[in-house]
Amino acid sequence: MITKKTINDIVETSRIEDVVGDFVNLKKRGANLLGLCPFHNEKTPSFTVSPSKNIYKCFGCGKGGDPVNFIMEHESVSYPESLKYLAEKYGIEIEETQTSQAHREEQQKLDSLYVLNQYARDYYHDQLLNTDIGKSVGLSYLKNRGFTKETIEKFGLGYAPKDKDAFTQAAKRKGYKGQQLKKLGLTSKYDSDFFRDRVMFTIHSVSGKVIGFGGRIMSKNVKAPKYVNTPETEVYNKSKVLYGAYFAKRAIRKADECILVEGYTDVVSLHQGGIENVVASSGTSLTVEQIRMVKRYTQNMKILYDGDSAGVKAALRGLDLVLEQDMNVKVVMLPEGEDPDSYLQNVGSEAFKEYIESQAKDFILFKSELLFEEATGDPVRQSAMIKDIVASIAKIPDPLKRSLYIKECGHLMKVEEEILMNEVNQIVTKSVHQAEDQRKKDQRQYARKKAAEQNKNTPPGNGNFPSDPGNFPEHAPFPEDAPPYFPEEEMYVGMAPPPQPVQRRPSAANNAEYQEKDIVRLLISYGGQPFDAEDKEVTVARFILSNIEDVLDDFDNDLYQRIARECLDMTIDGTPITPEYFIQHEDKDFRRLAIDVLQPEFEMSPNWLDKHDLPLRSQPMPDANFNNDSISAIYWFKLRKLDKLIERNKASMKKAIEEKSGEDEVMKAMKIHQKLMEIRKDIALKVNTVIVR
Ligand code: GTP
Ligand code: MN
Repeated sequence: MITKKTINDIVETSRIEDVVGDFVNLKKRGANLLGLCPFHNEKTPSFTVSPSKNIYKCFGCGKGGDPVNFIMEHESVSYPESLKYLAEKYGIEIEETQTSQAHREEQQKLDSLYVLNQYARDYYHDQLLNTDIGKSVGLSYLKNRGFTKETIEKFGLGYAPKDKDAFTQAAKRKGYKGQQLKKLGLTSKYDSDFFRDRVMFTIHSVSGKVIGFGGRIMSKNVKAPKYVNTPETEVYNKSKVLYGAYFAKRAIRKADECILVEGYTDVVSLHQGGIENVVASSGTSLTVEQIRMVKRYTQNMKILYDGDSAGVKAALRGLDLVLEQDMNVKVVMLPEGEDPDSYLQNVGSEAFKEYIESQAKDFILFKSELLFEEATGDPVRQSAMIKDIVASIAKIPDPLKRSLYIKECGHLMKVEEEILMNEVNQIVTKSVHQAEDQRKKDQRQYARKKAAEQNKNTPPGNGNFPSDPGNFPEHAPFPEDAPPYFPEEEMYVGMAPPPQPVQRRPSAANNAEYQEKDIVRLLISYGGQPFDAEDKEVTVARFILSNIEDVLDDFDNDLYQRIARECLDMTIDGTPITPEYFIQHEDKDFRRLAIDVLQPEFEMSPNWLDKHDLPLRSQPMPDANFNNDSISAIYWFKLRKLDKLIERNKASMKKAIEEKSGEDEVMKAMKIHQKLMEIRKDIALKVNTVIVR
């Protein structure tokens, strides 16, 4: 373990502008520096670095933290690895506390396995390039397949000789033990080589360590399996690994998309063609661990299927797992008989890119179409189809996305939206009840654990942005694996309450009122405070009101509307907005409401969760979060107003149809409907980027 003193040295020495500056082009703006966020795709910079506070914060995606957090996030490394990186950068010597003998031995054991795997990689690689048989058999095969020298180097491709135990003997001569060789699956229990007469693909961990191999047979028409892979070992767990992830991670983040293919050669080939955001799941279906790994880099996944894939439909079923992780999934079918490698080599990378761009279909819509074609004219299959697609949609955690899909799929499959919606709600309700019990349990446990930890020690760093990510206020105070939280209202599609801040559970009926009240709460509590600490001109009130000025008339609650109007007047003529102003207001209703919203409804105590049985979704300190709260409050408010417009327009559409007012009338209403849905989608996406971490 790194000592507390070293951690403090590192945290105090690291300058956020230097650390970020190594990766992001920053420009000065006032007291801050501004650049394009490395964590999400953006064209106008919203990534802010504050040298005085020594933190970074992106107003687009919400990521933020200190230098240690930045390196963890950007380089996808652990807390100690990030500290080591910074120590190296600043020439700080790392002091480590004595680790226990057992722990050290464990570490040494693992390290020696990696060393041996690296030796094996070098051996196979050397065989390929520097032996006659390797060159004439292995290298010529790879060259024939169009792989260049650079590609072979980069991916550590190799050749395993034919002899029974050439590798095992060579390794033993180098001093490696038979037991270790067997542990890594390199040598069989009969002391012969596991990989023989195959071209070798090195499998790396995300951080670049050699963890295993895949070996491909070169001759055709042999009964032996085409590929053999390293068996499960202490360092190779195939359900956690994606082939190529080490080489792809930067490109995935940059493109904000991960391309998934089926084969090793597809990954290698696409890289060579300049498409680097590619990984493969060694011939098995995707696992949750693999998806979580991708999700550290992007929410968007594009899956390429071989043109002859018989099992596409079975594969599609496995994809519900990806939806559950709230990823956006697109699928691309390659032309008949092609896999990514062959197709790229046929048409070149420009045409290839164009093809996958233009052919990519949203996974759920793709699935709907496929099922619909199959089920036409067959009522039994039709109901199976509905159940199938509904099961997929119900997996999507975000209620807004769900409602968009219900609309689209209903249209595609010619099924009434209401029917789909009912089915989806049934499934979601059921899983909510199941998740609910588990969640309560988990959260109590978590709160208890946190309380115990807090009593024990306070974290290093400057209190506001402690370096331990577990205590970093940006992080939701759930364990990462906790089941998703669905407030009761959220399970009903299209009636989502604002997920943030959740102070009191609004009932479905006063949902609208809750949103308006939330805006008023922000105005009264923080209205006069600068929205952005560096720019005193823009207050929270100015920010909120300038965003909703056009819909002030649409407030349902008269009192809330009057307060909003008064705040607008005050903002225009420069009267400071303070909580006291409202507490001492001449209007009795204003006074009462001010006290109501200012009175903290909860205390930030560890047993708060237990007491109220509610998760805390905003930051642990609501006072520090009013600008994020303001942004989400605005979006949710607008979203609800838009829903009202949509309903109103639907009613007139219906009326036009019933009264046979003529096609023009109906068409007009439909066009309006489409436009409104587009706007809604835009806002819904924004809500996502603001709220979804
Ligand atoms: P090429 O045929 O050389 O282009 O290989 P490919 O990478 O395109 O392989 P293919 O599409 O046939 O299979 C996809 C992936 O499934 C491979 O990369 C392997 O990871 C895995 N795979 C294929 N065949 C076998 C096999 O016989 N055994 C095992 N264990 N895995 C296989
Ligand atoms: Mn292939």
